Parts: sequence; C-alpha cells; structure tokens
Amino acid sequence: MVETIRWTPEGVVMVDQRVLPVREEYVTCRTAEEVGRAIREMVVRGAPAIGVAAAMGVALEFQGYTGGDPLARFDRIARDLNTRPTAVNLKWALERMRRLLEQIKDRPPEEIRARLAEEAQRIKQEDIETNRAIGRHGAPLVPDGKAVLTHCNAGALATAGYGTALGVIRAAMEAGKRIEVFADETRPFLQGARLTAWELVHDGIPTTVITDGMAGHFLRSGRIGCVVVGADRIAANGDVANKIGTYSVAVLAKENGVPFYVAAPVSTLDLMVSSGDEIPIEQRPPEEVTHVGGVRIVPDGARIENPAFDVTPHRYVTAIITERGVARPPFEESLRKIAEAGVAPATPAG
Ligand code: MRU
Repeated sequence: MVETIRWTPEGVVMVDQRVLPVREEYVTCRTAEEVGRAIREMVVRGAPAIGVAAAMGVALEFQGYTGGDPLARFDRIARDLNTRPTAVNLKWALERMRRLLEQIKDRPPEEIRARLAEEAQRIKQEDIETNRAIGRHGAPLVPDGKAVLTHCNAGALATAGYGTALGVIRAAMEAGKRIEVFADETRPFLQGARLTAWELVHDGIPTTVITDGMAGHFLRSGRIGCVVVGADRIAANGDVANKIGTYSVAVLAKENGVPFYVAAPVSTLDLMVSSGDEIPIEQRPPEEVTHVGGVRIVPDGARIENPAFDVTPHRYVTAIITERGVARPPFEESLRKIAEAGVAPATPAG
C-alpha cells in the first residue's frame, strides 16, 4: 500500500488523491503554505490525514526558524493550514503542535526545529497504531459471510495508514471472516469509486462499486450485514459529521434493520459541541458538481450547492468504534467515558 504522507528531507510528500487511481503521482510540499494548499485542494484528504499534514506543515514552517517569537509564527501559519473547517482532527493536530511549542518556546532554535519535526512524525505513527486498535475493537461487530457497505474513503489514504472504517474491514478479514465490500461511489469527489475501491482491490478484498443512489436498493436486499463509515467530527450527543451522503445511508440502514457503525479515533470527538447542529459544514467549489473528469455535465445557468459533509443524527448510529473501545447509546455517557479514559487522573495532593 502507498504511504499517504511522508516527512522527507526534501519536504512533505503526499500521494496525489485528486488523480488516483488513473495516475499514481506524488506532490512534494516544501513550505507550510504549500501544505495548506494541498489540504484545501484535496491532494491529501480524510480527517486524520489532514491532521497529520497540518502537523507536518507546522514542522516544515519551523525548519527555517532561527529565532523570534515562535508562537506568533505558529499562529500565522496555523491560519494558512486550517483550510477545512469540518474535520476536527485538523484543529486537534494544530492544538497539539501549539501545546508542544508553548513548552519548548524558550529552547534553542535547533531544538525547536527538531522537536516539532519529531512530534509531527509521532502524530503520524500514533495514527497508524490508533487505526489498528479501532480495527481490533470493530472486527467482532462485522458479520461473517456478508457484505459491508461503506461510504467515502475512510481507509489508509484518509489516514496515516490502515484506515478507520476500512481498518475495521481489514481487521475482520485478518481475523478470518469472509467479507465483501460495497463501496458507494461518493459524488462529487468520488472517494469511494476512486480511492476506496483502489485500496481494497490492491489488498485483494472483493469490492463492488455502486452509485450513491443504489445504496437503499442493496441495503434492502439482505446482502449487507452492516455499514461502517468514518467521521470528520462527532458531537457530544453522538451526532456524526461525515462525507455528504452518509446521512441517507444511515437512514436507509435503520429502515432495513442493518447496523450502522462509525469508526473514528478519539481525536475526532468534539465534546465541546453538544449536537451536530453546531458543526460547521464545509462548502466546496461548484466545479466539483458541474464537472466530471474535467467535462462539464451541468447546463450553464443551473444553480449549484456543494456541501462536503452532512450530519447523521445519533439515533441512526448503532455504535461508535474508537481505539479505546466501542461506544453505544446513550452516547453522551459512553463518549464521555471514552474521552476521559485517556486523561491521566489528577495526582492526589500531598
Ligand atoms: O472530503 P474528504 O475526502 O476529506 O472527506 C473524508 C470523509 O468524510 C471521511 O469519511 C472522514 O474524514 C473519515 S477518514 C478516516
């Protein structure tokens, strides 16, 4: 499998997800501004992957640091990197880099440079381990001998490796389950048809691509044992922001008695927002809708809407699979427990 994103002496190297699977090309970002542009233009995409990219962007910015107020420099560059508002992992990674910088801001420049580069690579490494743990927790939920339906791409390409939703599928396969995957094509950017199918075919996992409008038909057919998707942000009540079209799949899954699972790292939880209504939804350029493969398919004069994400209300979510375990309704309680499980208890006084 390709490496989605890599820290190299030449810069941050990313596989160009705009052109897969037609071409396997790599983009090298040599400045933080270039990383910000790569995130906005979806060279790299997927909530955890853009978090890793942003952290590497910060580290890249500081490779030229020889002195001056490092926090002011950070805040300037964070604005350029924070180019997608829905996926909270981007914000999470930037906050983590800033916390480190606050601790080391008075250290010599060469130490600051090295520590930021190490931290960005640690975030990447941890993401792979997190995805493996999500896979271990999720695999038992996947029925043997049935198909799994997924939407968008929550795979190795959307993360530092292995994937969240696709991590669950990979772990279930590794556990010996017989599985096939139905991948929604995921208009307009076609993450399902282009990226999920590419990854799964590469791994030898039987994969069927369907158009988004076919999901209901197949969920009703009895062939789908469960749905597993990723998430860009999960509110305290369990509402899930994910790729546009996820909500329709969730409603259709419930209507047909098919479990609907969300696989996501704890860094995707945003317990500061109480419900999905507070999650900002990114609006993308109209050309993503009007054009397919560079060819215009919509007549001039038609108005276009292009929200990149929707919110699935928590009542449609069977369970949320994280690296710390599986959260079930009521999510206010189960997600809080999962979030707190990683917080070190306060040292008793005296
Ligand atoms: O617009 P994208 O391609 O960045 O959207 C990606 C998704 O919606 C994924 O499902 C989500 O980020 C989870 S990736 C592990």
